[in-house]
Amino acid sequence: MVRRDKYSFIVKGGSTLRGEILPGGAKNAILPMMAASILSDTSLRLRNVPELEDVNVFGKILQQLGGSVEKEGDMLTLDQTGVNAFDVPYGLATKLRASVLLLGPLLARFGVADIPIPGGCDIGDRPIDQHLKALTAMGARCVKEHGKWHVAAAALNGARIDFDLKTVTGTENVLIAACCARGETVINNAALEPEVVDLARCLKNMGARIEGEGTSTIRVEGVTSLNGTDYTVMPDRIEAATLLLAGALTGGDVKVLHISPEILESLLGKLKESGADVSWDEKGVRVIRGDTIRSVNVSTNPFPGFPTDVQAQFMAYMCLGDSTSTIEENIFENRFRHVAELRRLGADISVSGRVAVVKGVRELSGAPVTATDLRASASLVLAGIVADSETLVKDIEHLDRGYEKLEEKLNSLGASIRRVPEEDECEVIC
Ligand code: EPU
Repeated sequence: MVRRDKYSFIVKGGSTLRGEILPGGAKNAILPMMAASILSDTSLRLRNVPELEDVNVFGKILQQLGGSVEKEGDMLTLDQTGVNAFDVPYGLATKLRASVLLLGPLLARFGVADIPIPGGCDIGDRPIDQHLKALTAMGARCVKEHGKWHVAAAALNGARIDFDLKTVTGTENVLIAACCARGETVINNAALEPEVVDLARCLKNMGARIEGEGTSTIRVEGVTSLNGTDYTVMPDRIEAATLLLAGALTGGDVKVLHISPEILESLLGKLKESGADVSWDEKGVRVIRGDTIRSVNVSTNPFPGFPTDVQAQFMAYMCLGDSTSTIEENIFENRFRHVAELRRLGADISVSGRVAVVKGVRELSGAPVTATDLRASASLVLAGIVADSETLVKDIEHLDRGYEKLEEKLNSLGASIRRVPEEDECEVIC
């Protein structure tokens, strides 16, 4: 039987993207805020929440735990006063690694949390040792049994946490738990990502006492409970970066509205180096491509370094560079799965360990390709827009996890992309 929920994109190459576009709210800020709602004694209302599969799955987990999650337009209303379970369901947890974010809040509220052991995933191993180390320092006992991490604490106490490496969800997990722990928690080597800062702002609106977010030392003074609030989520910088790169790749002129250049600084620097004209004003950030794309080197790093979540899309851009570019992936060990698919489109890329060497080609040629993960999907769509003919991008469900109707946004800028059910794709391209 053909599954109806499988879709592909038919991307007609050759358009030049121009215009202004508004990104949705940041997925990676919304998910930890949804987790934080566990600690709120009244409703938490989040605005600027796009329709994303990851948000839907996280919502289903909260509902299975007994909570209430309602979406109306771009507003998400979360009321977890009814949560009466602390055992994150296996089926849903394995669909969404960010479910690990429930560990801290469930532990802080119930003194116990069970989550399925997260396995490796499509971009790397992704252990959670740092999350567990931090919660242990706060008084929790972490035991691995029956395929789960069982984490329990008679009382969660403030502590000094020294992360061995920068971890985004690790920082967020501890930050949320510390809000309702006894006494002060100091998080050293905290992640600096803007989504961590946005989470801290939301938590402060909920009554948390936090200082130092956006620096590598965050201090949290525990309070007895958090209250609900009405919070507008920051714009998605990765979606913004994807849209700007789409414009630059096609030789176009795209302005992303409501986004500040500070959170895109490393990308904008690289775009300038590649010959693009980058500017911004109070309305947003604009990128106009120069005559040629100069090949530039990129190394991914934690914020404010070049984001790993933009590496695949930037690689698509570099495929049309005027010479050779090296792209180093320092965050995840398996985040080059788009390379084989970009090669199908005519890209000249070789990989050795963490480094991809991209030799620019004159043009890409349309072909059937398969999306392997969220950001890889975006890079294939971008390459398809600039290819000489039609590209079929299969398994678009990866894209829907983190982009709201990306095809409609790109089409509004001049692209030509059609979403087709998997069973119809052959009529178009076979
Ligand atoms: N790490 C450990 N131990 C830990 C935690 C992390 O070794 O306990 C390692 C990871 O394996 C990785 C590095 O530390 O090598 C950084 O991982 P991090 O924990 O920062 O990643 P994450 O929190 O699991 C978030 C985003 C990812 C994004 C990364 C890096 C969310 C929900 N996810 O993941 O987003 O790539 O930070 O910025 O915030 C995406 O949106 O496509 C995506 C994958």
